[in-house]
Amino acid sequence: MNVSTNTIAFANGKGGVGKSSVAANVAGIAALSGWRVLTVDLDPQGNLGNDLGYTQAGMSDEGAGLMRAIRDGNRLEPLRAVRPNLDAVPGGDDMDGLLAVLAPRLLDQTAPATAIADALTPLADDYDVVLIDCPPAGGVLLEAILIATRFLVIPTKRDLGSLHGLVRVARSFATVRSHDNPNLDVLGVALFDFARQDTRILADTRERLVRNLAGAAPVFETVIRNARKASTDMRRDGLLAFEYEEAASAALRRRVADRGWEQPGRPSPNGYSRTAAGLAEDYQNLTKEILAAFAERSGT
Ligand SMILES: Nc1ncnc2c1ncn2[C@@H]1O[C@H](COP(=O)(O)OP(=O)(O)OP(=O)(O)O)[C@@H](O)[C@H]1O
Ligand SMILES: [Mg+2]
Repeated sequence: MNVSTNTIAFANGKGGVGKSSVAANVAGIAALSGWRVLTVDLDPQGNLGNDLGYTQAGMSDEGAGLMRAIRDGNRLEPLRAVRPNLDAVPGGDDMDGLLAVLAPRLLDQTAPATAIADALTPLADDYDVVLIDCPPAGGVLLEAILIATRFLVIPTKRDLGSLHGLVRVARSFATVRSHDNPNLDVLGVALFDFARQDTRILADTRERLVRNLAGAAPVFETVIRNARKASTDMRRDGLLAFEYEEAASAALRRRVADRGWEQPGRPSPNGYSRTAAGLAEDYQNLTKEILAAFAERSGT
């Protein structure tokens, strides 16, 4: 097995903490900045395909190709150019069988379960960075994924469940690093879905995390703000935050052009959320931090 040095997995043992949203937006911004990016969706929910829009476009194979590659060693053929510079390996219903395929190999103590790494390695060299969206799993499934990645980003919300999920990842991280993948490295923890006004809660969460992590991993400066309506619209329409913000601005310009003025106090321009610009800025800043840490640690 050969773990590609340019892989970053987004993982947390807990569901709904921003793994897919962060992975999709980091992928889109990196690609826009000229990085050659591959996304890999290991989740049966296939949310990455909604966030990037290839599912709505009818292009997802629901993980069939990825499962064949992991199970049978077939060569992976990603979807090409879902954005300029951005290719994607879809996940979806077919990934339901992932644990069943990996379990016998995981139980075989004599060899590490390298099937995911073996599937990705032949492709990874074609890209500057490979971003893996993980299912909300802990235990052996998470460990099998961690065996296949060089880097890890851990998104978390502020609730106790998410923080426990983070502890589960830390445990799997320690196991995998000491056995099968000594180069595994955490790029950082990304705080997700914080209300702007909750500065106290944010400060407390950050402080607690920094203390618990005890220098093992940094907490990124950038916090992804709470933006429920924008994020729901984005996933429905396959738009990343910067694309949604562009669509919102265009809608506003059209309305001002139609009426000659902007009506003050309206909640949103033509149904778009007003948090769009702030959310796009958060993802821009977080991507900058993640890619800087990646470049520094991988020596690119
Ligand atoms: N900035 C945001 N503010 C509030 N909610 C958000 C924000 N961004 C995304 N969401 C919503 O939060 C939920 C969880 O986000 P996401 O799917 O990215 O998390 P996840 O960790 O990948 O979840 P899962 O474990 O189910 O794969 C989704 O319903 C999404 O629409
Ligand atoms: Mg997800």
